[in-house]
Amino acid sequence: MTSAAPGPGNITEPTNIVIFGATGDLTKRKLIPALIKMIDAGLLHPDSRIIGVVNKRSEEQWLEMVFAGLKEFSPEVAMDAARWQRFSAMLKMVPGDLNDDATYTGLAAAVETLDGRKNALFYCAIPPEWYGRTAIGLHSAGLVDQAEGFRRIVIEKPFGMDLASATALNQELQQFFDESQIYRIDHYLGKESVQNLLVYRFSNSILEPLWNRNYIDHIQISAAETLGVEYRAKYYEQSGALRDMIQSHLMQVMTLVAMEPPVEFTDAAVRDEKMKVLRAVRRFRAEDAACHARAAQYASGVIDGHKVPAYVAEPDVSPDSATETFAAVRFYIDNWRWQGVPFVLWTGKRLQKRVSEIVIRFRKIPFNLFDTHASPPVPNALVFRLHPDEGIFLRMNAKMPGLTTDTQRMVMRAPYANDGMDVAEAYETLLHDVLLGDATLFSRADEVEESWKIVAPLQEAWKDRVSIDRYHAGSWDVPEMDDLLEDCVGGWHKPR
Ligand code: BG6
Repeated sequence: MTSAAPGPGNITEPTNIVIFGATGDLTKRKLIPALIKMIDAGLLHPDSRIIGVVNKRSEEQWLEMVFAGLKEFSPEVAMDAARWQRFSAMLKMVPGDLNDDATYTGLAAAVETLDGRKNALFYCAIPPEWYGRTAIGLHSAGLVDQAEGFRRIVIEKPFGMDLASATALNQELQQFFDESQIYRIDHYLGKESVQNLLVYRFSNSILEPLWNRNYIDHIQISAAETLGVEYRAKYYEQSGALRDMIQSHLMQVMTLVAMEPPVEFTDAAVRDEKMKVLRAVRRFRAEDAACHARAAQYASGVIDGHKVPAYVAEPDVSPDSATETFAAVRFYIDNWRWQGVPFVLWTGKRLQKRVSEIVIRFRKIPFNLFDTHASPPVPNALVFRLHPDEGIFLRMNAKMPGLTTDTQRMVMRAPYANDGMDVAEAYETLLHDVLLGDATLFSRADEVEESWKIVAPLQEAWKDRVSIDRYHAGSWDVPEMDDLLEDCVGGWHKPR
């Protein structure tokens, strides 16, 4: 998490960037476009190599795939012969199956000495069941040792499916890699607007005095999507919204909202503070899940004027699936700052709008002086919009022009970036951080395990569910969601 402009503090060393899963979706949608943007911005050393580990395809076929992906996700590069040539010259392929030791030996031979060092970043863009096997292969081929440069491994989410599997995966990885070499990626932390939250909090003096239970009524952290499950039903059927979004992205954002100022801006200090928040999250019992959480699934409906099918009618979804595509959980953080303040985290697919935001709702005024029966003052709210239209909004009350003291709602807006400004993509920021060895925006082993501990009672309560509430795609009509926020000032904040 450094300045985006190349400077002495953020120059990366020439590195062998090894991608496991080089023909996969993540590589084509996110990794390759991010690497190209990094090259353009001078954030990736031009002498670096991008090595794809590819099975059952020739190098030529792989390059064709990369090019086809670029046409879809970075057409401006695909159309620019010189840029493609520059980029493709950095690509190299190592053939082989992840289950075959020879693949890793071949990889060891392909990892070049660049600038006198054999720096290597291993990116696991592969299904989670392969993480452990890959770590073993890298270790046996002598690729984990750091004698001639750094070795780092990037692990995608989901990091486990529950506490037991996450702990087992941590142990497996830590057998071969030191914790400082492991980068567990959560792309929400790479979003500019999420990092900006830290800067807002810790570089403005007006927020800190208000940032506590004395002034804040409750906080909502949300990620509403209009997309459905798309082509990912095989994974999503096992995961559902709780694992997919709440245990990872939204809880990570919650830690940044709730943490104390770290003693310094280093990965260790920031992660220590985040961890304290997680440890203070109140645990509830599985039997009480219905009081603290909601789950629902989308039925058919209309989005942007188009009819969309129900979740159960999507490809690869069981017709009697009770997997939640909407989840909401009300957490409490038992510490001095946040005692009694609900943190409501919610997310859903096929909702009315695609909006992700942090809504800080302040307490009501103690007493209304003005004769405003028609429109009483609204509680103040500070909204951090994570996307789209990243920025910050402050909702205040003001006098309605005229001879009365009637109030009107006024929203002060501060967009994060001006139109046309190039905001770095999450993967660009995160890959750059891995190259620099800055783990601030990555989850540490203990954080991941703690967050699984927190959601464990819900997993327990929901695991044998045979039926589930429904909402219409394209709506906000999630049953009983209003009740979950009944005691919260202003209730459920449905993004506009
Ligand atoms: C992913 C989830 O991690 O995040 C997806 O697996 C979800 O289900 C996506 O759609 C949302 O990311 P963003 O950046 O579009 O909010």
